[in-house]
Amino acid sequence: MFQGLRWRLLIYYLTVIASILSVFVAGVYVFFGRTLYRQLDKKLLTLAQSAASSFSSVENQGESYLTNVDKVPWRDIFNRDKQSLEWFNADGDLLGSKGFFQLEIPPQPGALNGVVNFYPDQDSPEESTQVSIRAYTISVFKDSNVPDNPATLEGYIRASQSIEEIDAVQNRLFLVLIGGAGVTLILSGLGGIWLTHEAISPIRTSFLKLKQFTADASHELRGPLTAIKASVDIMKTHPERVHPKDAKKIMAISSATDQMGQLIEDLLFLARTDKKVVLPTREKKSVSLESILQNIVILLEPCAQEKKITLTSKLDSGFFVLGDISQLTRLFSNLLQNALQYTPEGGNVTLELLKQNRSAIITIKDTGIGISTEQLPYIFDRFWRADKARSRREGGTGLGLSIVKAIAENHGGKISVTSNVNVGSCFQVRLPLLNYSGAKIISNKVTSKL
Ligand SMILES: Nc1ncnc2c1ncn2[C@@H]1O[C@H](COP(=O)(O)OP(=O)(O)OP(=O)(O)O)[C@@H](O)[C@H]1O
Ligand SMILES: [Mg+2]
Repeated sequence: MFQGLRWRLLIYYLTVIASILSVFVAGVYVFFGRTLYRQLDKKLLTLAQSAASSFSSVENQGESYLTNVDKVPWRDIFNRDKQSLEWFNADGDLLGSKGFFQLEIPPQPGALNGVVNFYPDQDSPEESTQVSIRAYTISVFKDSNVPDNPATLEGYIRASQSIEEIDAVQNRLFLVLIGGAGVTLILSGLGGIWLTHEAISPIRTSFLKLKQFTADASHELRGPLTAIKASVDIMKTHPERVHPKDAKKIMAISSATDQMGQLIEDLLFLARTDKKVVLPTREKKSVSLESILQNIVILLEPCAQEKKITLTSKLDSGFFVLGDISQLTRLFSNLLQNALQYTPEGGNVTLELLKQNRSAIITIKDTGIGISTEQLPYIFDRFWRADKARSRREGGTGLGLSIVKAIAENHGGKISVTSNVNVGSCFQVRLPLLNYSGAKIISNKVTSKL
């Protein structure tokens, strides 16, 4: 129980840390990416602005100016292996270019990303690679000599550069961030294991104390209760000694004592089972499910007859499980008692035992009041009982099904339930079989309608 809670807490904790880390990683990645692009844009803008002084020469002399001239103002900041400069006239026609590639799109002022075909070997144009680039285009204006007359557009200059370096830096940054987040998550997980252990410890201690108290109190209450029961039984066996006016009170005390005795037994059983005292193997022995179920049917037949309920049993024989007879008897009699208690007069209760793979499946089905879907998750909780007005049964403690579940789990089994209000319920217990030696169907129908 605490182990499950601890893992749940740890998973919630790690989910929160992982969400914070992902937001952080995404934020840092986007922020650095933008900063790198902003720096590159500034560089390209400076390059384009320094190339603007050559605009008139390129416009007049074309490509020949660029091939012949050695000293240009932008020479020192221009890297011909990674960058490219292009001059366009006002109509967007290329006047000249310098650098290792050309973008085949018309100039658009501002920054843009693109992909160009790059030919490493000029002699073999078929061997091209695709290069991602960033381009920055500025507009060049001719100063007007006429005052108050706006400057006219002369053309455009586009400076571009490959963004392989930025991509590489971004990839490295991503790997570092993911690696860092992974390490942080692992360390948080280790820290979380310790934290959840520390957080659960006080709860576990008080829960264990409470359980110990329940076990001790129920155990200690047994003695005085046995004494009361013995005295009441003596009074019941000698009615002549009791004043007739007190006879009813004696019967009330006797019934209350029985009820209290049952409650104390149930509490003691649950407190002990919670300590995970799984029965030692030597105390468990091979038991026949069929004989246990038949005995229960015989025991509860009168009860079914009293309520005019048709109790049908269909039991395959030859199934043995490793278990404790009294506990298994309690498990199935609790379920069958519930089926009879929560089924109105004239209803049907069916008990079935069959094999599925290596398990025995015991099904207890009734046509009773049923349990609503909202209430189904709680029925195995201690002291939980559906609305008394609906179940019309007083005196139950609400411990029956929690004991059923504890016994089934103690025997390596499972219990499941399906139910529909006013249609009926179906409880199914699955127990691992010890061995299987052929099955013979014993069908037994006890029709108790009078
Ligand atoms: N076969 C059933 N059909 C309808 N409701 C059921 C059935 N079995 C159990 N329930 C509901 O589940 C509740 C819990 O059952 P559980 O056996 O644990 O307690 P109980 O029968 O009320 O008391 P007791 O401890 O005496 O068995 C019941 O009060 C009842 O509302
Ligand atoms: Mg019950």
